[in-house]
Amino acid sequence: MPSTDDLFRTARALRASTELADRVRRALRMLCDSKAYRMWREGPEQANRFRPEAGQGVEALQEAGLVVDGALAVRVNDREGRLFATDGVWVDARGRVFPFDDESGTMLRLARRLGWATPDAVLDLACGCGHSALGFDAAQRVMLDVNPRALAYAEINRILNQVPSASTVIALNDVRDGVPRGVARGLRGTVLVLANMPFGLAPASGVLPLTSDGGEDGLMLQAAVLESLAALRRELPAVTRLQALMLGLTAGCAAEGRWEWPRRVGDALGEGRARWSLLHDEPVLRIDGRRALANPSPLRDALPALAECTLYVGDAERKSVREAYRTLAARHEREGRPDLAYGAVAVELA
Ligand SMILES: C[S@@+](CC[C@H](N)C(=O)[O-])C[C@H]1O[C@@H](n2cnc3c(N)ncnc32)[C@H](O)[C@@H]1O
Repeated sequence: MPSTDDLFRTARALRASTELADRVRRALRMLCDSKAYRMWREGPEQANRFRPEAGQGVEALQEAGLVVDGALAVRVNDREGRLFATDGVWVDARGRVFPFDDESGTMLRLARRLGWATPDAVLDLACGCGHSALGFDAAQRVMLDVNPRALAYAEINRILNQVPSASTVIALNDVRDGVPRGVARGLRGTVLVLANMPFGLAPASGVLPLTSDGGEDGLMLQAAVLESLAALRRELPAVTRLQALMLGLTAGCAAEGRWEWPRRVGDALGEGRARWSLLHDEPVLRIDGRRALANPSPLRDALPALAECTLYVGDAERKSVREAYRTLAARHEREGRPDLAYGAVAVELA
């Protein structure tokens, strides 16, 4: 796998030569349009690196460090004409940058439905490789993440998508520290905050990787997002509208339509502000890279199923992780939350 330093080197090479960046862009488009690559990306072969055919711009990808020893060093997603290099699922999950772009696609669709898809500024609190923030048209973009490797990809993707550096901030930040003041103060006009935080329910730390670990209720980092939003509301003099779109899992009770996360958003930001959308059309969990199980699903079925994910759980731990998930599901059930739902919360703050 490319080291984080290798990725920053790729970003520097692309920044230094528009000619190389153009060739790489063309080669990646060709790659994404090819049937062989599309089949690889959707199927189980994605567990190993893709080997592009000779020609097809492979020299440019080699020159940029994106093809090494004849195989693609990264995964490339494409959506609505934009390109996103990121880690493939073969990269060690402990430092892996989020490989999948379907959640960003969901956020963009929801934003369009709300009439929020063309803000003046997009502020992504956990940008990964930039799937969400670079997917929007906006005059200003702020991409924050706690993983430096994600920021290297975000910079590569900024260049690949010809987004000007002058209007983009890419910075290391832990959402638990809020949004850096200097960054917040530079925002103008209508600001859309995006938060696709890690939201997987985890029976203990270390069971899920950095991209997915949302603590025992999936809401550990959503709580930090709510604090950040409350602070932004107080601290943004030049912002005329502040909107936020968040994605996540929540425990609750399907029969009563009662879900823990939108309730907490209401408590933190004001009753009636949270617009909760349960994404009925989207399966509730990602297992082996594919979304699976009806949304919502009983926790007692959904949580132990997570232990079957070979991308996150090794064979040696599978049994104990399955047991830990059963115990966690039983605890939620005892506390009146028997079900799990995948959805989004939209809030308008000012
Ligand atoms: C589910 S991934 C989504 C990434 C990106 N939005 C996308 O769709 O590709 C969650 C992201 O949260 C980041 N993250 C985890 N803990 C964080 C924290 N405390 N503060 C900021 N970002 C964090 C991870 O590094 C990861 O990039």
